Amino acid sequence: MLVNATRMLKEAHEGHYAVGHFNINNLEWTKAILLEAEAQKSPVILGVSEGAAKYMGGFKVVAAMVKALDEGLGITVPVALHLDHGSYNGVKSCIEAGFTSVMFDGSALPFEENIAKTKELVQLAHDKGLSIEAEVGAIGGTEDGITADGEVADPEECKKIVALGVDFLAAGIGNIHGIYPKDWTGLKIDALQAIQKATGGIPLVLHGGTGIPDDQIKAAIQGGMSKINVNTDCQLVFAEATIKYCAAGKADPTADNKEKGYDPRKLLKPGFEAIRAKVKEKMELFGSVGKAA
Ligand code: 13P
Repeated sequence: MLVNATRMLKEAHEGHYAVGHFNINNLEWTKAILLEAEAQKSPVILGVSEGAAKYMGGFKVVAAMVKALDEGLGITVPVALHLDHGSYNGVKSCIEAGFTSVMFDGSALPFEENIAKTKELVQLAHDKGLSIEAEVGAIGGTEDGITADGEVADPEECKKIVALGVDFLAAGIGNIHGIYPKDWTGLKIDALQAIQKATGGIPLVLHGGTGIPDDQIKAAIQGGMSKINVNTDCQLVFAEATIKYCAAGKADPTADNKEKGYDPRKLLKPGFEAIRAKVKEKMELFGSVGKAA
């Protein structure tokens, strides 16, 4: 069931759990995440970066694929199709393409410009029934070629952007996209408390969900992080499972067997199963299992 993410995140926030946002890259990814969400009776958010959307053929292709898979697989749990780190034009295109949720990432802009653009896009998204996430300050790591250090958001800026009517807010508390450096000092839970207080209890979003120790994830959820973004973790397990399959010679066309292990339905299966297992693990950790029963 395709829905916007407002209600599922409000319920998560009130219930002290988090909904997983899992980035998708292709059909296998989407199918694995949808089927696991259904198996776990968990709400779920499918995140799509502009780069991944381009790779898949555009926002319209993504929206049509997700809608058709959701129906075709008989998915009953709430699913939001969400633009991840959207540009101003990207948000507008996704609203037209049939996404149910968008993030406008104006964090690299001067704050006043971020405010002005977010305000306009909140109106547009809400007019069409979409939920909208905003961001202040930069969250660290590399996403679509953009790199930043792990930053902590300013509670006053958070307060100002939330006042525009955004549904949930990405607020940096030292989190970083991708693999964390060895000398990373951890999430700043004190900063999270100050942000949550300043924003009056809006659901907050934790980007860079890969590689954060479980106890810190739990503390972040207790502190108001209700949406946790995971991308790299699924990429890593997919790559690992596929490499293992190939290294075992299973895709070798000259091998003396009739298995035809190079058939993409076989070749991609271990990676598909690995994504399902990773999504299950994350849903259990985030506490969203059974919340859509
Ligand atoms: P990771 O790649 O660290 O899992 O972060 C994903 C993310 O925050 C997407 O917005």
